[in-house]
Amino acid sequence: MPNAFHAPLATAALEAGKHVILDKPFALYLAEALRVAEASRKSGRLFMLGTNQRFEEGPQKVKALAEKGYFGKIYHLKASWRRRSGIPRLGTWFGNRKLAGGGCLLDIGVHMINLALYVAGVFDAECVTGAVYTRFGNRGLGGGTWGASEPEAMPFDVDDFSKALVPGRGRELGLPSSAKRSPASPSSRRWPCTGIIDAIYESSATHHEVRLE
Ligand SMILES: NC(=O)c1ccc[n+]([C@@H]2O[C@H](COP(=O)([O-])OP(=O)(O)OC[C@H]3O[C@@H](n4cnc5c(N)ncnc54)[C@H](O)[C@@H]3O)[C@@H](O)[C@H]2O)c1
Repeated sequence: MPNAFHAPLATAALEAGKHVILDKPFALYLAEALRVAEASRKSGRLFMLGTNQRFEEGPQKVKALAEKGYFGKIYHLKASWRRRSGIPRLGTWFGNRKLAGGGCLLDIGVHMINLALYVAGVFDAECVTGAVYTRFGNRGLGGGTWGASEPEAMPFDVDDFSKALVPGRGRELGLPSSAKRSPASPSSRRWPCTGIIDAIYESSATHHEVRLE
């Protein structure tokens, strides 16, 4: 379902007494997400966001190490994802602001932000500084290999590169995160994404990098 319908349909389903598991992105606007949370509270039904990448082996291992204190106190995490297969589905709702709400930030950036926050166990963002760019899709460049669902020649008016700095409460944790879709490469694999969680730990002066491929 296109992103624009996620929160309204989740709210309606909760109000109709259904338990809901909703795929990412949660919502296009904070107010919509809060309405979903409120509908879940009022109805007593379960709501879960489908942040499926948390349950993959790599993130689970990193999380387990963080919980064991292997990294000490984490004060900086960097997460990024470059989609080497290119932009999915140029010309469809996927790149259209009205239906998708955003581009790579809402497509894969949300996974990276979520994983970084999950590993750190911190969800209180103090503020967000970020930037989004549209450099390829709007020129018809960088179309990827994700299949062509219902091509409708819709204009591409979302971001194809994004970056954010998200200091945690008390400025103990900074989470620069970025997502980028690059023009398709002929050697792209079916799941050609590289996720990197990159962290600096207080307990050592060294820079750890954990690759999730
Ligand atoms: N968690 C993940 O790893 C992951 C992976 C892929 C997709 N997703 C999410 O799943 C959602 C769907 O992505 P997809 O790849 O399946 O897209 P898709 O384009 O393949 O499918 C979208 C579906 O929505 C239907 N649709 C389109 N416009 C509609 C409208 N106006 N009203 C009702 N239905 C409409 C289409 O007929 C189609 O069946 C997206 O929000 C995406 O972010 C999540």
